[in-house]
Amino acid sequence: MNIDGQAWRTIGLEPDGRSVWVIDQTQLPHQFRTLSLSTCTQAAEAISTMVVRGAPLIGVTGAYGLMLALQDDPADAALSAAFDQLNATRPTAVNLRWALERVRDRVRPLPPEQRSAAAREEAGLIAEEDVAMCAAIGDHGLEIFKRLAAARSPERKDKPFNVLTHCNAGWLATVDWGTALAPIYKAHRAGLNIHVWVDETRPRNQGASLTAYELEREGVPHTVIVDNAGGHLMQHGEVDAVIVGTDRTTRRGDVCNKIGTYLKALAAHDNGVPFYVALPASTIDWSLDDGVAEIPIEARSAEEVTHIQGRGTDGVITCVQLTPDGVEGFNPAFDVTPSRLVTGLITERGVAEASENGLKGLYAHA
Ligand code: MRU
Repeated sequence: MNIDGQAWRTIGLEPDGRSVWVIDQTQLPHQFRTLSLSTCTQAAEAISTMVVRGAPLIGVTGAYGLMLALQDDPADAALSAAFDQLNATRPTAVNLRWALERVRDRVRPLPPEQRSAAAREEAGLIAEEDVAMCAAIGDHGLEIFKRLAAARSPERKDKPFNVLTHCNAGWLATVDWGTALAPIYKAHRAGLNIHVWVDETRPRNQGASLTAYELEREGVPHTVIVDNAGGHLMQHGEVDAVIVGTDRTTRRGDVCNKIGTYLKALAAHDNGVPFYVALPASTIDWSLDDGVAEIPIEARSAEEVTHIQGRGTDGVITCVQLTPDGVEGFNPAFDVTPSRLVTGLITERGVAEASENGLKGLYAHA
């Protein structure tokens, strides 16, 4: 996607072919900079500190992390230790385990001297496939947006098609395009008069900082709102559709996404607003049924609740305390939206009902 007229992806090999560059998302939207990762530990830290984040991008970074580990030591024990180190960084997004297993299964049968090259190739394939899947999600989502926009009442048809999104499920969360934002980019490029309500997404504000940054760079009209405003806007007919991403989707179509997504789904349900979830196949965990009971929810530092980061009037990125000294905070990073609240799952293979039958209709092998 575009930053100041230049096409960017979120991750790639450095010219030496041995290290990996990523965009440092902890500094956005105020500073755009890339960081170079040359060890597995650096890749693990980039994931856990959220230099890179978003389920698909975490997976690709993990895959390259295994490559970095194998360059240093291609033995079985090192492969296994690197797998465990990377897999432990963030527990909720299943893409991480999926990508690590894919690289491990590819390299394990090979002699040690061939392993790092094979891991490099597999990580590159995962990245390319992610781009293709997200682009296809965008095409399928665009058709839904066109249909919903056309079906609006005559008095609303001349107004922008208002979409609400939560967190950042854009190109910064993937390798390119994004999941939930891909249909928005495609709709904007196709000439649909689209406007996006961007949930700020406390505590880390991925909406206010990252989604707004992306939409601004792409020229898509948008407005940042506090997380609690969505229900009010829906009650007043100001939201035509909600679209979000997911970090893990169970076989029956429960979706786990950034904390607060569930409340948006409830409000959408109460107001008859379609609630769509966009996801690539790599986000489906076929081993789980009941998302609320079974998906591990990451608990992050309470400091993300008690403090907030932003740019001061002096231009310096700084962190300030919001709460009284010594106050306790609790910070579950994700919640689960049961499938009954989901209007449809937009995948790279098309749109499915959020149910086991719906998903199996698209992924018969599963
Ligand atoms: O904690 P984050 O920023 O990694 O959470 C990201 C999300 O919740 C996204 O909505 C999710 O990964 C969907 S994918 C593009």
